[in-house]
Amino acid sequence: MTPIIAPSLLSSDFANLEKEIKMLNRSQADWIHLDIMDGHFVPNLTFGMPVIRAIKRVAQKPLDVHLMIEKPERYLSDFKNAGADCLSVHWEACTHLHRTIHQIKELDMLAGVAINPHTPVVFLEDIIRDVDFVVVMSVNPGFGGQYFIPNSLKRVKELRKLIDKQKSEAMIEIDGGVDLENAPLLVKAGVDILVAGNTVFKAEKPIEMIKSLKLTINN
Ligand code: DX5
Ligand code: ZN
Repeated sequence: MTPIIAPSLLSSDFANLEKEIKMLNRSQADWIHLDIMDGHFVPNLTFGMPVIRAIKRVAQKPLDVHLMIEKPERYLSDFKNAGADCLSVHWEACTHLHRTIHQIKELDMLAGVAINPHTPVVFLEDIIRDVDFVVVMSVNPGFGGQYFIPNSLKRVKELRKLIDKQKSEAMIEIDGGVDLENAPLLVKAGVDILVAGNTVFKAEKPIEMIKSLKLTINN
């Protein structure tokens, strides 16, 4: 499959959200990544259901909602109703991860599990056949515009091996510090979905940047 580009709205201009989403609609972006933070699981707050609902009214691409919140199982159907197409929860935030993943699937969303940079990939061994995708955090979650943690490349390779060994169909999403330089290396290592915040929205021409990202990974 050709890798998916999912720009993260966290780095967009929130005063012009409609304009930013329409730009993504016109671009080669495949999904739109939304970062939900609760000020507990991560030391930052972002937005919730009303904003997702508003985004959904304008967006013509699937919404990939990344929950950086404690006890995400409390809100799964709320996120579905607000317009989420893909929903990822953190391994570190879920006591009953297996149940939560299956609840997300029952709600007809793609179910993802996200892992922080220090969480061993091998901890996914008994959930990898249940999830639709794994989000490998390549920064410590909480903020956009951070540097890519180099060890993440090794983690992607390890995860690719685990997925293949278990004959799982899970896709690998990479989130944090993705740029034109590391994107092709990440895809070569086995990444299927690339999230990009600052690289896209701080570029002079975001549409062109998305096009360049597509070009570098398809070469
Ligand atoms: C970080 C978020 C990321 C963030 C990525 O907690 O999960 O999705 O928006 O932004 P960049 O690409 O700027 O690192
Ligand atoms: Zn994210």
